[in-house]
Amino acid sequence: MKVPFVNLQVQAAAIRAEVEKQWADIITRCSFVCGKRVEAFEAQFAEAHGVRHAVGLSSGTAGNHLAMLLAGVEPGDEVLVPANTFIATAEGISLAGGTPVFVDVDEATFNMDARRIEERLTPRTRVINPVHLFGLPADMDALRAVAGKHDLKIVEDAAQAHLAEYKGRKVGGQSDVASWSFYPGKNLGAWGEAGAITTDDPRLYEKALLYRNHGSRKKYLHEMIGHNYRMEEIQAAVLTVKMNHLRKWTEQRRANARRYTERLRDLDAVIPPTEPPDGTHVYHLYVIRVPERREALMQHLAAQGIDTGLHYPIPLHLTQAYAHLKYKRGDFPVAERLAGEILSLPMFPELSEDQIDFVCAQIRAFFA
Ligand SMILES: Cc1ncc(COP(=O)(O)O)c(C=O)c1O
Repeated sequence: MKVPFVNLQVQAAAIRAEVEKQWADIITRCSFVCGKRVEAFEAQFAEAHGVRHAVGLSSGTAGNHLAMLLAGVEPGDEVLVPANTFIATAEGISLAGGTPVFVDVDEATFNMDARRIEERLTPRTRVINPVHLFGLPADMDALRAVAGKHDLKIVEDAAQAHLAEYKGRKVGGQSDVASWSFYPGKNLGAWGEAGAITTDDPRLYEKALLYRNHGSRKKYLHEMIGHNYRMEEIQAAVLTVKMNHLRKWTEQRRANARRYTERLRDLDAVIPPTEPPDGTHVYHLYVIRVPERREALMQHLAAQGIDTGLHYPIPLHLTQAYAHLKYKRGDFPVAERLAGEILSLPMFPELSEDQIDFVCAQIRAFFA
């Protein structure tokens, strides 16, 4: 049986007619950038996350950068960020002129370990930038406690966590500002590049609108130096249509994860992901830990037609792009160990029960 890692085609086929109708209207009007569809999407996305404002952007990475600018990060400022995340989180900090200061992660949740934050503080620390990795909310109360004590801002990277909840509240409205990605494979994915920031703060919202559009509210009146981080109408149309399905798709991801975990729980050789009582996981990725023979298991699964992934194979403090920060192996032992144990199994809403059962049976067969 073939089990792809993700399959975007089923959803694309399901909403294609509706999107094509909207795209036809966009072409007729020739209103391509930041028009009424972007505005409609922003309102819909903010409401779904219980946050006052959303600003649609050209990518999640633009969101990471913009969130740092909104948090007031200036050259020389330090921002705490987990050692195990996609590089865009750290790039947002670097693009703003700040320095990412890596923090080890918790081995059960893969998220930033709030107990390790204070040892990384310096007089230049300004922001804590947790990531709700794989769709599991970071430990926000613990992070808020440290942030409050040391007068730090919090910026969430919610790129993988659409509709995820921490203590019954959606992520994205639990900090000063949050960044989002709508890269095609994300839980809410555009048909191209797109991202957003969300915030409850009306001043940050106004500032975000300026940064997004060359510092300009009115054509050719530039109040400040900004960027071109505008969202396209054709992407907003896709996202607006998809928003109507996102709850259902999220439930399907959660049901798939439950089925995986039920079938893997009693196997000593693998550790399924945990879901702490405070967080509702939306399973952008279903990541198990395989303390021994991970590479051989990957090869076995590939030979059976099952695609898997590694998120992420190299912790950021050891990646070449950040070599100038002079970290070394051993600095973040948990993140380093996890990098050698993690294995992402196929995960998307339309994954069938048979496919999940087949993947689990093949994992069991490998260790039998
Ligand atoms: C955690 C995280 N942050 C940021 C990004 C950047 O988003 P984008 O690819 O839309 O620029 C991604 C996705 O790729 C991500 O997974």
